[in-house]
Amino acid sequence: MDDLQLRELLYQALETEVGGQLVYEAAIRCAVDDDLKEEWGKYLAETRNHEAILRETFERIQLDPSTETPGRAVVRFKGQALVQAMEMAMSEGGPAAAQLVAAESVVEAETKDHQNWELIGAAAGRLDGELAAALTDAYAKVEEEEDQHLYHTMGWARELWFQALGMPAVLPPPEEVKQVTSAIAAARAKGARDAMLDEELQVPPSALP
Ligand SMILES: [Fe+2]
Ligand SMILES: [Fe+2]
Repeated sequence: MDDLQLRELLYQALETEVGGQLVYEAAIRCAVDDDLKEEWGKYLAETRNHEAILRETFERIQLDPSTETPGRAVVRFKGQALVQAMEMAMSEGGPAAAQLVAAESVVEAETKDHQNWELIGAAAGRLDGELAAALTDAYAKVEEEEDQHLYHTMGWARELWFQALGMPAVLPPPEEVKQVTSAIAAARAKGARDAMLDEELQVPPSALP
C-alpha cells in the first residue's frame, strides 16, 4: 500500500464531503419536485454526518484534517464549479432547466464521493491494525448511503430529462422506489422502467366503455 496516496485519498474524501454539502444546498434551491427536494435534504444531512465520521477517523488515525494537498484543491475547485453551474442555470435557464442541471451536478459530485468510499473500503481490506479497523468502521457507516446518493440521483437525472423531452417518465425513479443500493440493482431498476410505465399508463377497467 502506498501510504502517501492513501492519505491523499482520505484528504480528498474529506474535501468531497465538505464540498458536497455546498452542492446539495445549491441543488435544493434548484429543486422543483417536492419528493426530490426532500430526498436531497436527507442526503445533505447524511453528507454532514459523513464529514463528521471522517473527522473522527482522522483523529483516530492521527491525521491532520487541515493538511492541504494539490489534489484536495482540485476537488474543492470542482465542487465550487458545480455550484456556479447551478447558479448560472437558475438565473438564465428557468426552474425546470435548473433542476436538471442540479440533478446532473449531484451525480457528478456523488460519482467522486462513491468512488472515494469504494477505495477506502478496498484499502481497509488490505491493511491491518488500528488503521484497518478505523477505515472499516467508517466504511461500514457510510457505504449504503453512498450507493443511494449516486444511484437514486442518477435515476432522477434520467427521468427528469425524459420528462423535459415530453416523453413518459417514471417519477420518483425506479431506483428510488426499489431502494437500489448496488450497480447491478440500479441496472435492473432501470430495465424495469418500461414495465412501470406500462402499469402507470394502463387504462383502469372502469374507464372502458
Ligand atoms: Fe458522502
Ligand atoms: Fe454521498
